[in-house]
Amino acid sequence: MSQTALQSIPAAYFGERVTWVHHWTDRLFSFRCTRDPAMRFVAGQFTMIGLMVEGKPLVRAYSMVSPPWEEELEFPSIKVPNGPLTSRLQHIVAGDLVLIGRKPVGTLLVENLLPGRNLWLMCTGTGLAPFMSLIRDPDTYEKFDRVIVAHTVRLVAELAYRNLITEELPRHELLGDLVREKLVYAPAVTREPFPIQGRITERIATGRLYAETGLAPLDPRQDRVMLCGSEAFNADMKALLEGMGFVEGNNSTPASYVLEKAFVTK
Ligand code: A2P
Repeated sequence: MSQTALQSIPAAYFGERVTWVHHWTDRLFSFRCTRDPAMRFVAGQFTMIGLMVEGKPLVRAYSMVSPPWEEELEFPSIKVPNGPLTSRLQHIVAGDLVLIGRKPVGTLLVENLLPGRNLWLMCTGTGLAPFMSLIRDPDTYEKFDRVIVAHTVRLVAELAYRNLITEELPRHELLGDLVREKLVYAPAVTREPFPIQGRITERIATGRLYAETGLAPLDPRQDRVMLCGSEAFNADMKALLEGMGFVEGNNSTPASYVLEKAFVTK
């Protein structure tokens, strides 16, 4: 990187280089970049990331997909037509410079939940991102018997990371045993045929979710939930869970569920 490029990066960011880009669909892509050794985070957190545009940082909140132990950072992004950041970010290629915020934050942390039986990670769209980091952190499995990734998307092609979850993780050298013993993947699609169809709110209300997964019905005394999706999804799930007796936890008080909105960037 040239000195000039480095000098122009504001102090709140690391300047990193893109190493890999993958386009899942015309609406969704992921990319990886180098990681400064000083960039520390806890699985489930997000940070501000973006590009220098006309000499200024143009950034939005993005959750890390990569686990804290991995050498590089990975993020998924939607592509918003005319979105100030994503209309540019979607064209990045290996070697480009990206800004990575130095201070990751967030509430989707295992420490914000009480120990329990099943940990349900419920998400829509790019809300999967923090959960991809969590399911690759061995600490996530310590306090729970089962960890369930319940990802709902409109189209099958939007089930990003499906192959990684079903094929790679069970064979992973360090995580394989934990994953095979505890991880349950419950993908669903709402707008085209798929073995499991329908919104998770409906599948909870009808009990179909439990038949599909073979797991016991949600119980606030034993189970824990993390939510990450659109505002409508989070609001509907919050009402549903609180109606069942779940209590929201935060960075000072652990409880039975936590939530964060999936960052739909523009
Ligand atoms: P649906 O296709 O029935 O709208 P989006 O791309 O709009 O964020 O949606 C991602 C996924 O989340 C879709 O499968 C969508 O279902 C589902 N979804 C959207 N809003 C809600 C909600 N309020 N409750 C449950 N699922 C939702």
